[in-house]
Amino acid sequence: MRRQQLIDLHPQPADMAQLVSEGMASDPRRLPAWLLYDAEGSRLFEAIGEQPEYGLTRIETALLEARSPELAAALGPGVLVEFGAGNARKVGPLLTALRPAAYVALDISGNHLDAACRALQERHPSVPVLGICCDYTRLEELPPHPLLNGQRLLGFYPGGSLGNFDPPEARLLLRQFARLLGRDGRLLIGIDQPKAVDRLEAAYDDRAGISAAFALNLLRRLNRDLAGDFDPAAFRYRARWQPDRSRIEMALVSRRPQQVRLAGRTWMFAEGEPLITEYSYKYTAAAFLQLAGEAGWHGTARWSDPAGDLSLHLLRQADSEAAPDRR
Ligand code: AVJ
Repeated sequence: MRRQQLIDLHPQPADMAQLVSEGMASDPRRLPAWLLYDAEGSRLFEAIGEQPEYGLTRIETALLEARSPELAAALGPGVLVEFGAGNARKVGPLLTALRPAAYVALDISGNHLDAACRALQERHPSVPVLGICCDYTRLEELPPHPLLNGQRLLGFYPGGSLGNFDPPEARLLLRQFARLLGRDGRLLIGIDQPKAVDRLEAAYDDRAGISAAFALNLLRRLNRDLAGDFDPAAFRYRARWQPDRSRIEMALVSRRPQQVRLAGRTWMFAEGEPLITEYSYKYTAAAFLQLAGEAGWHGTARWSDPAGDLSLHLLRQADSEAAPDRR
């Protein structure tokens, strides 16, 4: 039996301290979303996917299951590379239909990724599985590996995760995916659509309180990994739709004036001051294709669920026909 492999490129504590200090010094305060995903955060995010208010995971999983033969035919042969694979449960039907030369899973949460790769390797013994623990927003290139030699690279970025980034950041990320995947690469990306405000706000603030626990876990994570002394009880969770930006803003709001130690510095919070934990931007198909076009990608196909809640877009690089392959 093949053993799946894991490459560890997780950011070092000093890099984390630097990023967190930058985020704490910005106005409003905002931290990179990947910090939410320590082991407990990854577990809580999976629980969010099971809440009745949060349809994204269920709907996208069903869409991938229903359309995997078409998706596989449209992708063509190559190595499948998933950005932010998490528990890697969405990719199953695609692996079965596509039988890629290999499957590469990138994720920030190392233990979680290791477990996901093991489970996946057991279910798909004929597809070599490689895990790379990293912050994929900062990955300049895929680490050289025999499994990747001479292969077309097929990017897979489900879950609407692009929504975590501001449009300028999202453009940069899409350009970076273009660089990582090469001229002949493809990108299959899941994009969540704008929908009724009450549905959106409920999805990000479920009745069971899992979304709130997910955000508050960030403070515990910072306390542990960056010598912080946040009191989670001194913050309340808030999720609100901001129509002019087409995004959900998720924040921890300080309940009172307070000071917090973190990464060797002291930070003041006023009463009511937010710490933005995440944005979740929603794009219509047209708005997304515009953004992707600005990053050099061209849409070749789109699949949606019957209700039109989300889309899977297949992209290729705009100049891929004219230019020779890089890989
Ligand atoms: C993983 C970024 C797609 O924005 O829907 C869900 C994250 N945070 N509930 C999303 C999230 C709180 C999720 N993404």
